[in-house]
Amino acid sequence: MIAGLIDLKRADGEGLATQLTGQLRSLIASGRLGKGLSLPSSRRLASELGVSRNTVTYAFEQLVAEGYLAASHGRRPIVIVDGAGRSDPAGTAASRPTAGRLRLSSWASKLQKTDWPMSYQAPFKPLRPGHGDAREFPNDIWGRCLRRSAVGAARRELGTVNRPRLREALAHYLATSRGVRADADQILILPSAQAALTLIATAVITPGDEVWIEDPGYPGAAAAFRAAGARATGIALDEQGMQRMPGRDAPRLIFMTPSHQHPTGRLMSLARRTEFLRASRPGKTWIVEDDYDGEFQYDSRPVPALQGLDAYGRVFYVGTFSKAMTSDIRLGYLVAPPALVGTLEIAQRHIGLIASSHIQEALAEFIADGHFLAHLRRVRRLYHARRDHLVAGLERHLGEVLSVEVPSGGIQLVARLKRSRADQAAVARLVEAGVVTRAISSLALGKPRDHGLLLGFAAWRENEISAALRTMASCF
Ligand SMILES: Cc1ncc(COP(=O)(O)O)c(C=O)c1O
Repeated sequence: MIAGLIDLKRADGEGLATQLTGQLRSLIASGRLGKGLSLPSSRRLASELGVSRNTVTYAFEQLVAEGYLAASHGRRPIVIVDGAGRSDPAGTAASRPTAGRLRLSSWASKLQKTDWPMSYQAPFKPLRPGHGDAREFPNDIWGRCLRRSAVGAARRELGTVNRPRLREALAHYLATSRGVRADADQILILPSAQAALTLIATAVITPGDEVWIEDPGYPGAAAAFRAAGARATGIALDEQGMQRMPGRDAPRLIFMTPSHQHPTGRLMSLARRTEFLRASRPGKTWIVEDDYDGEFQYDSRPVPALQGLDAYGRVFYVGTFSKAMTSDIRLGYLVAPPALVGTLEIAQRHIGLIASSHIQEALAEFIADGHFLAHLRRVRRLYHARRDHLVAGLERHLGEVLSVEVPSGGIQLVARLKRSRADQAAVARLVEAGVVTRAISSLALGKPRDHGLLLGFAAWRENEISAALRTMASCF
């Protein structure tokens, strides 16, 4: 009878003994061979299966060693594990760890308490914020760069974590487009901006340190610093972004998005940037500048990065290709303060935050050959028009219920409910009708200070935006 449950494949690369062991183990673990059942003798099972007796003996011995079977000399082996494999021959069910009783590290325990990134699982539909339009990405050109990178792989030296060509290309791009002042070897290439935040937290946060974060702000940043043991304090915003300056109470680190505050889209003025630098003592307070969508400035010339204004090396500059290219590229970067480059490179290897060399080389070529800037120029025009289309539509169709804060750039905007602060209820109502937005109050660090709807425009075509607006108008 047991032989009928076993299916051994002679041509399989896996040996017969290994196959038999695995199949018997699964049958016991799934409960099909129940606790107390006597298996046939090795001689009989071997003959029923048409395999050598050694094959069966090997499988029995292995399963005895793993605790699934008990065997004594001259007797048939007996299953000693309960159905569904839950009984533990070395203990009782009560001694099995359960999620609540696992002894996790303090880092993992903190992760269990943060709800990021699971808190936002919205479907990818208009007007979901946070994305550029992947449909506009020149996949044919990118494909050629990837192919050349793969073909050239045999000629490249192995083991360089941050590829020099990409570092050089990025240093040049960041200097000319964003005003970042950095040598190429200050740039770490990472799988995402989030990886950069984790790396920074690992390198400079000691549990108990205070970190200031814009409120409302980017929840991924709060999650990374909290997981490292930081106390995250939300700092209220005014028209230019974060309004509190560090003084005697200076924190260990300040996280900000000065190009377009996430989520409000506000631009921090040059004067405010300088004020922050003046107030942050080198060696005492680090500043993290997250320039996640700084490529997209529509109404004015881009304000130079805070990093480029800093003469004392106290700013970490973080960027990502998730918005400028597509989020599936999985590439970001960190421009490290000179004094921390060595430490961060070691940490990068320890944690294994290393981006594929193939992709790094392809991107270096994509940038050096001008494709990146050409793509940016094209989508900048497109996103600018989409922003204007969304703003005009909101004012025309929903002007009575929503007031729009028009950002000077970026990929999303905030519309506030004029007669209510119940943004989460509004978001739920809209999702049901098929329009995806995000509640500003859900981006608060503690008790919400601000309310409204975060609406994405960059990822959505004008006809998609118009359709979403019609749905929204019928909902309100
Ligand atoms: C402000 C901000 N920083 C960083 C990121 C994360 O970028 P990445 O996908 O590279 O981790 C996002 C993504 O939405 C963001 O909004």
